[in-house]
Amino acid sequence: SQNIILRDLAVPRFFGAAANTTFLFHDVNYTKVIETQFSIFTPENEMKWESIEPEPNGFDFTAADEIVRFAESVNAKVRGHNFMWGNQLPPWVNDTLSATELDRALKNHITTIMDHYRGKLYSWDVINEMISDNTPNETFKDNIWTQKFGEEAMPKALTYARAVDSQPKLYINDYSIEGINSKSDALYSVVSSFLADGVPVDAIGFQCHFTLGQIPDTLQENLQRFADLGLDVAITELDINLMGPSNATALEQQAKDYWTVVNACVQTKRCSVWGVSDDHSWIPNGSVLPWNAEKQPKPAFYAIADAFEGK
Ligand code: G3I
Repeated sequence: SQNIILRDLAVPRFFGAAANTTFLFHDVNYTKVIETQFSIFTPENEMKWESIEPEPNGFDFTAADEIVRFAESVNAKVRGHNFMWGNQLPPWVNDTLSATELDRALKNHITTIMDHYRGKLYSWDVINEMISDNTPNETFKDNIWTQKFGEEAMPKALTYARAVDSQPKLYINDYSIEGINSKSDALYSVVSSFLADGVPVDAIGFQCHFTLGQIPDTLQENLQRFADLGLDVAITELDINLMGPSNATALEQQAKDYWTVVNACVQTKRCSVWGVSDDHSWIPNGSVLPWNAEKQPKPAFYAIADAFEGK
């Protein structure tokens, strides 16, 4: 495995991971994997609103800059994550502002951060998880953004972002939109209307937080229908939860599942896992990632290599 470098096999695509400053430079073996295997990083928490603007107009770029500098040092790209989300918001954003004040805060947030990273970021998840889990009854999630702005929430953020910097690709990122289903249909019609109305959007991020043996059959077909709208499509947060003990059978199935997803994104462009090794995942006991806690490659690692090589 020493000689298998997934970022090289992925060319001309990117192979990415969520990078986390809690582990970067602190866990030596994690750092070794992360600096050799990936060509694009998403800060796992460091650019979220509560981290980067904890107080009104009080920005703290320390942790986020650490990831951007690290990425530059290993010649990797960075996906900004994120601007508009219902979670990890500081109380001042979530509780206290009128619609006018919130609008001003959103514009200032996006403008200040995009200015700070001008020329450095490949893309931004401008929108994260704004489509309802209760489609088709309701299209948008109930959160502070939709409470204050209704269906204008997403266009606002996308328009502010494009106005600051025309370079980074502007993403709408979401989960449970990987197969063809009611939620991805809802996103599809929202995005189609954005394109018709001139609302700036360049790409869709499919998170892909999957459960063992349950990769949607329509993954490839679904990626393709969004690509056919002229958008980039990317697997942004792939992980596969064993939902049980990490035995040989489970690991083989996990490898198959990783192959299926990476093979689908070989037909597209980008593929990022959410984390690197099982011990540093947002899912504590799912053994969800391609490296184990000892930072040894699992069967899934070799399956990813095969998929990139067309095997
Ligand atoms: O920063 C505090 C720290 O001060 C405190 O001591 C510690 C105690 O629990 O908590 C720390 O905050 C944690 C934060 O990560 C930073 O490490 C939160 O508890 C924890 O809930 C938070 O989890 C993150 C989660 O988003 C929050 O919604 C995960 O690391 C992160 O992997 C996850 O990522 C999301 C994507 O952004 C969007 N898609 C889904 C994905 C998985 O939920």
